[in-house]
Amino acid sequence: MGLHQPQHRHLASRRSRDYLTQMAIREILEVPDPRLKQISAPVTQFDDDLRTLVADMFETMYDAPGIGLAAVQVGVPLRVLVIDLQPDDPDAEPVPCAHDGHHHHHQPTKREPQVFINPELLEPSEERTIYNEGCLSVPEMYAEVVRPARIRARWQDLDGQTHEEDMDGLLATCLQHEMDHLEGILFIDHLSRLKRTMVLKKLEKLRRAA
Ligand code: NI
Repeated sequence: MGLHQPQHRHLASRRSRDYLTQMAIREILEVPDPRLKQISAPVTQFDDDLRTLVADMFETMYDAPGIGLAAVQVGVPLRVLVIDLQPDDPDAEPVPCAHDGHHHHHQPTKREPQVFINPELLEPSEERTIYNEGCLSVPEMYAEVVRPARIRARWQDLDGQTHEEDMDGLLATCLQHEMDHLEGILFIDHLSRLKRTMVLKKLEKLRRAA
């Protein structure tokens, strides 16, 4: 999932993509790439290849930057998701900054990487919530999507251990968004046909301008 707030796209991180190829940042597929429509297969081997895939997915997601990524978005149709909502770190000193000409402070965030392998949605609530979603595969585009407000999720970790947890808020929304990717569904597929066409046309225009 993409972040709604415009992030500071530091040039350094862009450059590192060119010079430090060993960082294993993978290419993120974008609409209308047909590979995004693939149904992802369950993970059966909890091995080093899986660990490498997950490490690369985090690297790719942090670089983008985004808060969630499904393996299929980097062209690997396996049921693997990474999420990091990167909450504010209340213990850290605010960092002074003047990147837009005004002196202000940023509260550093702390990384909270979470891996979801073979995730299942168990008890979506009747209650719905609306979130302005974005997606690294639909760059720069945002739209309001309605989803169950609370869910119970079951998933496996990198060692194949099963976990189960009740979730709400942004984590519930983000996990549902990422789980949609496993079925070949993008957030724009939840919109009316008219709205979806508008988003895709806007993206097309943006790409031509770039
Ligand atoms: Ni997405």
